Amino acid sequence: MNYRHAFHAGNFADVVKHATLARILVHLAAKDAPFRVLDTHAGIGLYDLASDPAERTGEWRDGIGRVLAAPFPAAVAELLEPWLAAVARVDGLTATAHLTPERLAFYPGSPLVIRAGLRPGDHAVVTELHPSDAATLADLFAGDARLKVVELDGWLALKSFLPFKERRGLVVIDPPFEEPREFDRLTRGLVAATKRFATGVYLIWHPIKNRAELARWHADLVATGLRRILSVEFAVAAPAADGPLTACGLVIVNPPWKLAEELATLLPPLVERLAIGPGARASVDWLVPE
Ligand SMILES: C[S@@+](CC[C@H](N)C(=O)[O-])C[C@H]1O[C@@H](n2cnc3c(N)ncnc32)[C@H](O)[C@@H]1O
Repeated sequence: MNYRHAFHAGNFADVVKHATLARILVHLAAKDAPFRVLDTHAGIGLYDLASDPAERTGEWRDGIGRVLAAPFPAAVAELLEPWLAAVARVDGLTATAHLTPERLAFYPGSPLVIRAGLRPGDHAVVTELHPSDAATLADLFAGDARLKVVELDGWLALKSFLPFKERRGLVVIDPPFEEPREFDRLTRGLVAATKRFATGVYLIWHPIKNRAELARWHADLVATGLRRILSVEFAVAAPAADGPLTACGLVIVNPPWKLAEELATLLPPLVERLAIGPGARASVDWLVPE
């Protein structure tokens, strides 16, 4: 396990992942019944953007840094609000209107975005396999009764913590893609998880480096027989197999009603803002509809 998210926190991939995550939480909170979230690959939760890893790559400057550099039209700003509220909170700001690249010192990882979306009766379990990262995360949430941190293999967590007793909620799967067959593991994990908890919302993040590999994985997902699979692609430049990451995707199973429409409004202006080269584009498509 060599991957350290601290080098990448707040980059374009986090922007699209966390903005979408926050929207899903808004939809879950729209109904009174409590929900639960499982985040299988949680990271350390809070990232200091002045730390050595963040400074070394500076990736956040072309991610959250650019998002905050200028206002968006009202319809887009409204969709970004729940995620930016989580960012403002870790930076000690009371309103997203006060957020500027200069005031940004910390960036929230998925566990903090999740916590910001929980209501008093909602709960989350976040798992992280790296022992020192899991310890950092446990310290961050010490005394928080709603969010439990467990040092555990996220693939096992899909078996241990599903289904949720609330019968509604979200599973976030965001592996580091260090293993050569990570896409196959995702398919197996998703099939096992949906057998236990068919009605859950599943949010999966993946890199896009090789289009043929992605097409194969999408075909595998279709072949699982699962319904309601949404595919999002977000490229700040054309993907390159060997270069730095410039494109990523999300697969969302059982997305909340209206999420596809919201992402179709949000992602084009977002990718325009974050573009770094030719081939920048965003798309939202049903791999498998209803
Ligand atoms: C991409 S990062 C997660 C970022 C986080 N989800 C966020 O959005 O802020 C992947 C994390 O998975 C952890 N990890 C790697 N293998 C794991 C496994 N089998 N189970 C759980 N965590 C794992 C890594 O230590 C790393 O912190």
